[in-house]
Amino acid sequence: MPQFQNAQALIIGGSGGIGLAIVQQLLTDARFERVYATYRDRDRAMALLNLAATEPKLTCLPCDPTAEAQIIATVEKIQQQTDRLHLVLNCVGTLHDRDRQPPLSPEKSLRHIDREQLLHYFDINAIPSVVWAKHAQILLKHPDNSVFATISAKVGSIEDNHLGGWYGYRASKAALNMFLKTIAIEFSRTRQNAIVVALHPGTTDTALSQPFQGNVPPGKLFTPQYTAACLLRVIDQLTPQDNGAFFAWNGDQLPW
Ligand SMILES: NC(=O)c1ccc[n+]([C@@H]2O[C@H](COP(=O)([O-])OP(=O)(O)OC[C@H]3O[C@@H](n4cnc5c(N)ncnc54)[C@H](OP(=O)(O)O)[C@@H]3O)[C@@H](O)[C@H]2O)c1
Repeated sequence: MPQFQNAQALIIGGSGGIGLAIVQQLLTDARFERVYATYRDRDRAMALLNLAATEPKLTCLPCDPTAEAQIIATVEKIQQQTDRLHLVLNCVGTLHDRDRQPPLSPEKSLRHIDREQLLHYFDINAIPSVVWAKHAQILLKHPDNSVFATISAKVGSIEDNHLGGWYGYRASKAALNMFLKTIAIEFSRTRQNAIVVALHPGTTDTALSQPFQGNVPPGKLFTPQYTAACLLRVIDQLTPQDNGAFFAWNGDQLPW
């Protein structure tokens, strides 16, 4: 399971560290005949766009994940080429952003709570997946197996929260997890061949983790390539019983 064959994938956020590594691995996977990848900004997506220049299997589509009209337009573009997707994987997420005004930085304590910053975390980390599900579900209504997944984070687990801090990031990932669980329940009624999961990638050497890598024990910082391979292996091993679950990179099921 899910026995991908002549499969078509959509990677949302194909320009990011993990997203790009996922795209690269799907391009070498003969079971996938087409890979769609979205990006928000041309200048930040040059590695992805350069890949498309030499990879006929790859179609890059500009899309701001916070703009519903752009998500609708992107789905319409995909529908012009196919009536079905077998893997939809959202790799968009934010933890810090120095270019934002004011800069985005995870809260260490209550005194750092800022309403606009909290809204931004939810806007990027939680809401896009459910809006994507609303519009992409039409491409998941087919008799083949399919997977709708989003990269979440273990720190979004309420049960696993022993350290505190990072209010906005944690809460936005917890909200994402609730969206995914709820989509899974709706799909179990309307799209029985679709499996919906949240995925934790493990600490991975990307721009997102870069300022926090000092605390990572030796050998525990994964390359994006390793993480992508692990996540794709987890996806490959999903069964219908896994619908609505939260998995780590190594296949362990995580508590919500
Ligand atoms: N790296 C880790 O250790 C780690 C651990 C746990 C969970 N995660 C999760 O893994 C996912 C992928 O992260 P990554 O490590 O690959 O980080 P990354 O390299 O920073 O990629 C983040 C992705 O999100 C997009 N993005 C960020 N801010 C955005 C905004 N304001 N508007 C629109 N798009 C935005 C980025 O677009 P641009 O390319 O245009 O910037 C990029 O596609 C995220 O959901 C993250 O929370 C990562």
